[in-house]
Amino acid sequence: MMDAFRIDGGTPLTGELRVHGSKNAALPMLALALLTDQPLVLNDVPALADIENMLKLLAELGCVSSRDVAGGLTLHTTDASESHARYEIVRTMRASICTLGPLLAARGRARVSLPGGCAIGERPVDLHLTGLRALGAHIELDAGDIVATAPRGGLVGSTVFLGGAFGSTVLGTANVMSAATLARGTTVIESAACEPEIVDVARALTAMGAKIEGAGSPRVTIHGVESLSGATHTVMPDRIEAGTLMIAGAITRGNITLSNCPLDALMAATDRLQAAGVSVEQVGNDDPWRARCTVSMKAGKDRPDPIQITTQPHPGFPTDLQAQFMSLACLARGNSVVTEKIFPERFLHAAELSRMGAQIARQAGTAVISGVDRLIGARVMASDLRASAGLVLAGLAAEGTTVVNRVYHLDRGYESLETRLASVGARIERVKGE
Ligand code: EPU
Repeated sequence: MMDAFRIDGGTPLTGELRVHGSKNAALPMLALALLTDQPLVLNDVPALADIENMLKLLAELGCVSSRDVAGGLTLHTTDASESHARYEIVRTMRASICTLGPLLAARGRARVSLPGGCAIGERPVDLHLTGLRALGAHIELDAGDIVATAPRGGLVGSTVFLGGAFGSTVLGTANVMSAATLARGTTVIESAACEPEIVDVARALTAMGAKIEGAGSPRVTIHGVESLSGATHTVMPDRIEAGTLMIAGAITRGNITLSNCPLDALMAATDRLQAAGVSVEQVGNDDPWRARCTVSMKAGKDRPDPIQITTQPHPGFPTDLQAQFMSLACLARGNSVVTEKIFPERFLHAAELSRMGAQIARQAGTAVISGVDRLIGARVMASDLRASAGLVLAGLAAEGTTVVNRVYHLDRGYESLETRLASVGARIERVKGE
């Protein structure tokens, strides 16, 4: 039987939570261990199913890992003979594609099963391949696998345009950037993804001895080096977990304080929260990548104001917070409009929210949400991580009992979400689902 969350809604959440390390920064960062035969130590890697899967894959690729008592994760590549990321693992986790660039750069060859579609839509990897081909790789498809070979003498630096119909590609940028660190000469990635996770991956690579300029901007320049060494790096805090917890505070009309919060990477989200009548205030003047802040509805507001949201590549509003904001919009006083420009099919939560009494009309990549004054608990499920997070938030605000089924999706991206929410007053428990 699969786990579910049972939530008795309606309690305002109050208290303090520390934001965990970022899943989406950690995943491509773990694969960097393939680039060196020395130990890479990463702090603040969250304990998530996706991370475990990535470690399993890396183990098959000759990289052993261990966690120390303080939570540091050491990765050490001791055997470079195997370069095949098998379908059995790749199909459980698309981020397996992150091994492609590092394997190709360090071993001259890679065989990585082509990830399939997933619940949020078709997810091609053509841009990853374009980028690696520009560095001289020969790439073909064989029996569902991407088979890539570097030229004799290794990859060669080059200029590559990574923009596609939906903007740039986050993991594609990570793949090409990490491969280019060991290429001969200079690589310029134009229309690189500007996501903060790319900045963090570049920082880890720089600590390993890579020469990278411009990460976080659309043009990243990488000067190839002979070899990379081991390093120690602390993973940036998870901006999507932080945004989700902010909404948990707002939607329950509570008062949440977050520490280790990457406010600097959350400007689009906090802008939309302010527009909805939610106050997000930094406390003290810590590094804005690891700030302390408080979140609550503005004084005198009993319901959110309606909002317009369009998901975009960073620094625009992140698609990974779209579902959670939709739950907030469900309770707004007025009509909200949510447009999804990154994954136009990513609306699995909308029909489930309707089962809780939300009023949502969807057409293609846009949803119009007519706010209602209350949501009512129901049994719901969603087959993607962020959609499930949106349903949990709705359940926290709803009247009565909500059961969110199939929380294994949530477990892929949120470390012990139910215990954390319970620690700030939520009535939520893990139960056996349907
Ligand atoms: N795209 C292409 N060709 C490619 C690659 C992408 O057309 O070769 C398109 C995609 O179909 C999509 C857009 O470009 O429309 C952006 O996709 P991107 O490649 O940036 O996504 P990703 O790197 O595979 C990461 C996150 C996702 C997040 C997206 C967008 C990780 C492990 N995953 O995926 O996170 O939604 O960027 O920001 O970093 C999640 O955490 O729930 C999640 C899905």
